Amino acid sequence: MQSFQLHEHATTVPINSYQLEDWQKGYESLREEFDYWIDQVEGEIPPDLEGTLFRNGPGLLDVGGEPLQHPFDGDGMICAIAFSQGKAHFRNRFIRTEGFLAEQKAQKILYRGVFGTQKSGGWLANAFDFRLKNIANTQVIYWGGKLLALWEAAEPHRLDPKTLETIGIDYLDGVLKPGSAFAAHPWIDPSCAEDGGAPCLVNFSIKPGLSTTITIFELDEQCKVVRQHARAVPGFAFIHDFAITPNYCIFFQNPVHFNPLPFVMGMKGAGECIQFKGDRPTQIIIIPRHGSAPVQTLSTQSGFVFHHANAFEQDGHLYVDSVCYDSLPSVEPDADYRQVKFEQLSPGQLWRFCLDLKTNTVERKLIESRCCEFPFVHPNRAGRPYRYVYLGAAHAAQGNAPLQAILKVDLVSGERQIWSAAPRGYVGEPIFVPRPTTTAEQLQSNGKASDEDSGWLLTMVYNSEQERSELVILDAKDLTKEPVARLHLKHHVPYGLHGSFASPYFDS
Ligand code: CO
Repeated sequence: MQSFQLHEHATTVPINSYQLEDWQKGYESLREEFDYWIDQVEGEIPPDLEGTLFRNGPGLLDVGGEPLQHPFDGDGMICAIAFSQGKAHFRNRFIRTEGFLAEQKAQKILYRGVFGTQKSGGWLANAFDFRLKNIANTQVIYWGGKLLALWEAAEPHRLDPKTLETIGIDYLDGVLKPGSAFAAHPWIDPSCAEDGGAPCLVNFSIKPGLSTTITIFELDEQCKVVRQHARAVPGFAFIHDFAITPNYCIFFQNPVHFNPLPFVMGMKGAGECIQFKGDRPTQIIIIPRHGSAPVQTLSTQSGFVFHHANAFEQDGHLYVDSVCYDSLPSVEPDADYRQVKFEQLSPGQLWRFCLDLKTNTVERKLIESRCCEFPFVHPNRAGRPYRYVYLGAAHAAQGNAPLQAILKVDLVSGERQIWSAAPRGYVGEPIFVPRPTTTAEQLQSNGKASDEDSGWLLTMVYNSEQERSELVILDAKDLTKEPVARLHLKHHVPYGLHGSFASPYFDS
């Protein structure tokens, strides 16, 4: 095992870079819905940054004052920041899910959350209540003319991209049925051979049980499902994300045990019944995207993975880059997530897995030991050999801590660049937006790797000093420079999950 060489740019903030009380303030509900032009801007919004950033995450951390047990149980709220001609417009809207509307009317918790939120009244009030509240809080994508808010255990909600109004559940022209799952981590294959080189969206659904059914969906540019196939794999699986290449879908089946009894009896959320089993290997499930070749399963050393950075095929091997945790602590029913002891948990670290499908063997090596999460790559490199990965990261090089920095890793040279919002700032996912190029420039560069970092990184930063959030725009070519622009919002936005950038400029 060898690790990449580290060349780190020094920063001036002390190692003890955060205060837990500061970090906790980012988990306050945002009740208001806003609509305004952002007029407090430091630096300059690039005039050629044209389009709309959509971002999803829990907007409420309580219902009528009753606190949620975990932020992942919070109602989905979309932020849209629309950019045109150097100006930016902000808008946020809650997704009007059935559960959101009912709970806001009642002003109390009516549904159990997957991550432990319970109705008041103790276990008796919760036992045998298996109704699922589709909270639509994990990702939002614009594809084939539809803006879809995603939550992995249920159907997508369709929204109006201009107003963010909720149109309703979208069944993808009847492909999904009421109660169907549709994961929150689609990939866009930039050039699908089956579609004559056109892009297609690849996503999956998980139907858990004693054996798990994984269904793969491929959608064309009109948002029509053009390919769909289901495969059964042995054992219970908790799979949040996957990776694609032109020929494969790759899933990491984390070593977990699921005991549903406390959930059934009303004592725990379903997610709290998942126990990490560090003594068992992780199974890597390889499903061919085309044709009916058998599923291949490879074993590797244990660990827990939420997110994959990318995957690609090269020299007869399959490579997967993923953020791995040594272990995953169980969510305790009476623990307060705001009191997390960061230093006692294992950090997420970026690993590269090299898969040999002929010998069924896996080799892995550590790419980045710094605590990191939310990997993002150039959209045109999805499933292809690539050079740069961007991540949310801890300010300090060692140990586990909240994400306060944006890290760029050059996978070829090993060089790192870091921009840090410490000590008072807390970052979210860095969303890479390619700089638009003219046709002549495209022909000249022919997709060379040197242009892969030509663009911007957009990330929402919670500023705990001002108790407000800002959208920070970084030049992806050089993170050590001052941000290109900081757009100060009039309020805070609770820590979010995932987002995406759409090239149309949406404003009503
Ligand atoms: Co995710």
